[in-house]
Amino acid sequence: MAMTFLRASCLPTLFLILLSCNMRASEAQTPAPAPGLSYTFYRTTCPQLESIVRTQLQTVFNSDIGQAAGLLRLHFHDCFVQGCDGSVLLDGSASGPSEKDAPPNLSLRAQAFVIIENLRRLVHNACNRTVSCSDLTALAARDAVFLSGGPNYSIPLGRRDGTTFATRNATLANLPPPTANTTTILNSLSTKGFTPTDVVALSGGHTIGIAHCTSFTPRLFPTRDPTMDQTFFNNLRLTCPTNVTDNTTFMDIRSPNVFDNRYYVDLMNRQGLFTSDQDLYTDSRTRGIVTNYAINQTLFFRDFVNAMIKMGQLSVLTGTQGQIRTNCSRVNSNNLFILPGMENNEDEKLASY
Ligand code: HEM
Repeated sequence: MAMTFLRASCLPTLFLILLSCNMRASEAQTPAPAPGLSYTFYRTTCPQLESIVRTQLQTVFNSDIGQAAGLLRLHFHDCFVQGCDGSVLLDGSASGPSEKDAPPNLSLRAQAFVIIENLRRLVHNACNRTVSCSDLTALAARDAVFLSGGPNYSIPLGRRDGTTFATRNATLANLPPPTANTTTILNSLSTKGFTPTDVVALSGGHTIGIAHCTSFTPRLFPTRDPTMDQTFFNNLRLTCPTNVTDNTTFMDIRSPNVFDNRYYVDLMNRQGLFTSDQDLYTDSRTRGIVTNYAINQTLFFRDFVNAMIKMGQLSVLTGTQGQIRTNCSRVNSNNLFILPGMENNEDEKLASY
């Protein structure tokens, strides 16, 4: 009788309740946009923006999917140092070396900067100087994830570009080294508002891309880091025969060019490349999160999107702050006077990509 009653009248209600609970859960997952940012920022000023970026990046990745990793890392390095203000894109000036020249940024892919500048040119040609280099970097990272097999998601836009870059010391202080253990990483990222769940999810960015031997040689020399699998170690020693070898290797040996949860499976098999990766499985505070992501890719994707949106809003410039650069590697000159449409007159050709 009770069953009949449930089937006849309660189930539709239950379904609606569950649906609304689910909706609330997923809404809660998407962080509210920071003041000044919005999910519809360019709706009237550049409605083609997202399709221009996605189409261009699809072309780029068709010839080299490795560039996706370079773009994802570029956005991370932009946001962690002085906020997502495009400061990592700036060339040095007479006043000193740029943030771009600081040690952690020297291994950013040179082509990533070219790809962003080419996107800027395409977008400004279509919409005039309305879209910032920092927004283009954020969109490129978002599309790098999706076009490598990861989740498709929206990001808040409306960032403005900064007019200064960080010093070498500030850059070093804000980007933890790969030799850091979980305690150091959790402490460092908690100062930016990230939870342990965010930290483990963001580290999943290492499911794509490459690293140089020098980023992990302390785990190979003089002897094997005991938390590293022996066969994995033997193979890495073939790639990096000395502690000054400059070769590269994939970071996720199971699926190096696919954005998936295999990075966490690597960690469970003691095949994480950096101390900062492998220690997430060794440390009891983060081990359970690693395991959950290794067995549930949907959960990883959900938490990764949440953490990326959070990262993409760190100390953003909005409204009348900063500027929209006419060239992503340079601050606009003070006497710059650009009429709408002038960008269209640029006859510079797109560099390769
Ligand atoms: C948590 C602290 C992190 C540390 C210590 C770290 C460290 C590193 C290092 C040392 C490299 C290799 C550099 C080289 O040897 O060439 C690298 C590469 C990479 N990192 Fe991270 N990273 C961290 C977080 C992140 C985050 C949050 C993301 C993005 C969500 C990310 C995405 C990447 C990607 C995609 C690459 C490959 C780049 C390429 O192939 O060009 N990393 N990371």
